[in-house]
Amino acid sequence: MRRKLVVGNWKLNGSFARNTALLGEVRSGGCVEGVDIAVCPPFPYLQQAGDMLSGSSVLLGAQDVSAYQEGAYTGEVSGRMLVDLGCTYVIVGHSERRSLFGETDSRVASKVGAALAAGLTPIVCVGESRSQRELGGAEQVVASQLESVVAAIDIKLLDRLVVAYEPVWAIGTGLTATPEQAQSMHVFIRRCLGRGGVDSDGVRILYGGSVNAGNALQLFNEKDIDGALVGGASLVFDGFKAICEAASKASL
Ligand code: PGA
Repeated sequence: MRRKLVVGNWKLNGSFARNTALLGEVRSGGCVEGVDIAVCPPFPYLQQAGDMLSGSSVLLGAQDVSAYQEGAYTGEVSGRMLVDLGCTYVIVGHSERRSLFGETDSRVASKVGAALAAGLTPIVCVGESRSQRELGGAEQVVASQLESVVAAIDIKLLDRLVVAYEPVWAIGTGLTATPEQAQSMHVFIRRCLGRGGVDSDGVRILYGGSVNAGNALQLFNEKDIDGALVGGASLVFDGFKAICEAASKASL
């Protein structure tokens, strides 16, 4: 059975003072039975978060990673640096990076390769836009986003992948995919990975897009929804904790 994973994606939010309060709460209350929990603060706060979470079971992740290992790449942060900071996970190919910062499928695949080479677990985000869903192309979009990763990476490494299905129309909008819509896409994702030769039964597939305390349990009760990538609701401890508890309840 796949262990549930709940990941807080803080995006471009936080300050030393605000993080101190939130991380303190996460540290003392963020451990629930049967669930892996991680937070992904912005790069400048990874050290602070690593220090504050050290000795707790809450893991650390970053929101992006360079495709390069080192050298003349101004502004980049490598996988090895993230490991130095204590990261376990890194989000790769979030739709905001794809749409606002021009990340292509092939760049995402390179970043996944760099993350794996550094020993990180990449959380690869895939998902369709509203118009792509309305035109009936959601599965095709997700399949091609996955295929570019599967084609570029040594198949033996890919069972370490975490996939996050994040329909773009559900991110930060308050709209959530129904549990049935999400489950159906998660089954499709698992099938795509399997077809590509990945041992996909053990791969955790998270749902992301306006997950909150009110909708988490229904989502987590679906067989192929192995957790969540949580944006807005991860910035307030009570909401984040309730989502983690829902994951725990669904695992029992
Ligand atoms: P949201 O963001 O929970 O605020 O919709 C999710 C994400 O972008 O990872």
